[in-house]
Amino acid sequence: MSSHPYQDPTLPIEQRIADLLSRMTLEEKIAQIYQIWVIPSVPESPQKVKEYIRKYGVGSRILAGSHLAGSAQERSAGVEEINAYQRVAVEESRLGIPILHARDVIHGFRTMFPIPLGMAASWNPARVEEAFTIAAREAASCGVKWAFAPMLDIARDPRWGRIAEGSGEDPYLTAQMAVAAVKGFQGTDLTDPERVLACAKHYIGYGSAEGGRDYNTGEISDTTLRNIYLPPFQAAVQAGVGTVMSAFEDLNGEPASGSHYLLTQLLKQELGFEGFVVSDWASVIELVNHRVAEDNRDAARQAFNAGVDMEMITDSYATHMAELVQSGAVSLERLDDACRRILTAKFKLGLFEQPYTQPGLAEEVLFTPAHQAAARKMAAESFVLLKNEGGLLPLNKTGQSIAVIGPMIHQRTALLGSWTLDGLSEETQTIDEAMRAAAPQAIARRANDALSDEMVRAALSADLSVVFVGESNRSSGENNNIASITLPPGQEELVEAVCALGKPVVVVVLAGRALDLSRVARCADAILYAWHPGSLGAAALADVLFGDTAPSGRLPVTLPRSTGQIPAHYNFKSTGRTFDGVGHGDSGSYPERNRYADLPGAPLFPFGFGLTYTTFAYSDLRVSRGEIQSGETVEVQVTVTNTGARPGVEVAQCYVQDCITSITRPIRELKGFQRVDLQPGESKQVRFTLGPDAMSFYGTDQKLHLEPGKFKVWGGSDCRAEMETEFWVK
Ligand code: BGC
Repeated sequence: MSSHPYQDPTLPIEQRIADLLSRMTLEEKIAQIYQIWVIPSVPESPQKVKEYIRKYGVGSRILAGSHLAGSAQERSAGVEEINAYQRVAVEESRLGIPILHARDVIHGFRTMFPIPLGMAASWNPARVEEAFTIAAREAASCGVKWAFAPMLDIARDPRWGRIAEGSGEDPYLTAQMAVAAVKGFQGTDLTDPERVLACAKHYIGYGSAEGGRDYNTGEISDTTLRNIYLPPFQAAVQAGVGTVMSAFEDLNGEPASGSHYLLTQLLKQELGFEGFVVSDWASVIELVNHRVAEDNRDAARQAFNAGVDMEMITDSYATHMAELVQSGAVSLERLDDACRRILTAKFKLGLFEQPYTQPGLAEEVLFTPAHQAAARKMAAESFVLLKNEGGLLPLNKTGQSIAVIGPMIHQRTALLGSWTLDGLSEETQTIDEAMRAAAPQAIARRANDALSDEMVRAALSADLSVVFVGESNRSSGENNNIASITLPPGQEELVEAVCALGKPVVVVVLAGRALDLSRVARCADAILYAWHPGSLGAAALADVLFGDTAPSGRLPVTLPRSTGQIPAHYNFKSTGRTFDGVGHGDSGSYPERNRYADLPGAPLFPFGFGLTYTTFAYSDLRVSRGEIQSGETVEVQVTVTNTGARPGVEVAQCYVQDCITSITRPIRELKGFQRVDLQPGESKQVRFTLGPDAMSFYGTDQKLHLEPGKFKVWGGSDCRAEMETEFWVK
């Protein structure tokens, strides 16, 4: 029998919270807005944390080894240890409020999927949802009930290491991935023990860091903020994301973690976000570093009043909130509001009823054959074929000798990518192992991955070479920015030396960002972009290189021709003049616009681009109605035909331009895409629905506009799609 109404699971959550809040002391409320950290390097830390929890309870506990957890593999959080802390909260604290255990589960837990940028390259939300469902199941089996993902930061600058963690440059694609991740983590019922609470981060504009230097200042106009950076967060909120993390950076003159406009007005009031906001790591007290707060007390007051409900790891709320409330600097209503939001999440997760994790469960759940199979498929779908001269790929498994060379062939950790906390290198096959397993007769000579002369020698003695180049997992991710987006030193020379032998060369690039492949593209016959592909990445590479699976990924980011082309994104705006001094009007594709005197205007590979082992043709692009009233919907239809000799997947894409608008707008924007599976000779009709959302934008008045006039529509296989039609909004 439950002793208090808040413990009665048959009552509505609001009633349980009202009862609980009425019983809580000020200190107990403050404990709920605190995310505590057991500091690994401080021996007395566990005891101190438990004492605190025993006295007041606590909102959450973060399971992280350091402030840069993503750049270091860490031991899995142990269920016994998590249960032990939970026991203190549930059985030894006065009210028995359970703890919400949180961890960075960014692209898998034990089974590592490709980095999020790679997952986005699949343009397959269903596959991505499955990846996050598996990540949730594995994390929950280890006691983690809250994952700090998805990362929804639009990134237009690949120097920024955190581009690896997001879905690239496009608001629409990122929004689709946001919804997939939220659904995968949270499911439809959070009380399901295999689901976890998601966290949309880093709200907002963090990807605009000047110069691609992490944590740096961002300046984005309000219209760009709302039209480019906001849509993924908006989509996550609509999909019911439970939490949002406030970003580190200073945006338009206000730190994002101290902005009432961003957190309360825009997120909570305008978008109607009902979950809670957690700060990023110490981002509350960093208001002092930003020099907008005098001290930690002032920082706590500003961040909390701005709308940050829970403070991650630092204790400015825990230390100063009682006095802030007593002095009236923070209202009790605001404290109750934050507590209500946090307690709602705990009730929705069913934590009051099931606070503990079953010991031993993890062994049955982690890295199962089914999870590995899903990771292998996800990885294969993330690869983007950029070049395939003379149909060099797929490779034959017999009848030719293949040199497998390059600095990546014996790597394990590098394949897992940034933000691999629980994935194990020892469970990750190397590329060399996977290639030999797939085609034991074809793999001629393998080379020491450190000596380039040995590699060239191996290439010389084989019929063709596959050169695996790329970046370390530590070149991307948090605080891992690079000044020049070329391959690491020596790798371009290696590719050129192998190409100089005059035999066919395939280059596979493993990277956490968009790289400048100009030198590679000049000489390699085939290029496959494979990101950091996760635990099963090597096996998936063998699947695709040998043609057991055809590549079907498309670029979620523009690949520039040089670092100097940054920012490079397809959805640039119409300008008054081009390089030649002539307005480029409304052509809608990559013109030689405003280019440098020493570079072509177009990037090396455009957004949305990707080849496969067959070819496709588009025909018969039409709209269902040439004229609609504002608020109505248009159906776009296009026929896609497989014109080659092999089955394949095309990602049909639909772009729209609102021709005349009250503010300057992108030259074209992605508004729909669909993966289509086609047998040789087969045709299918693809349909896209353009609703009012696809025709609207935020104006300088911060309001949504759907302005009458002409809209152009393009259908095709990347952002340069040429087949065009139009409709009018009356
Ligand atoms: C990162 C977040 C991460 C948090 C917790 C911060 O440094 O910016 O993305 O979730 O640490 O590890």
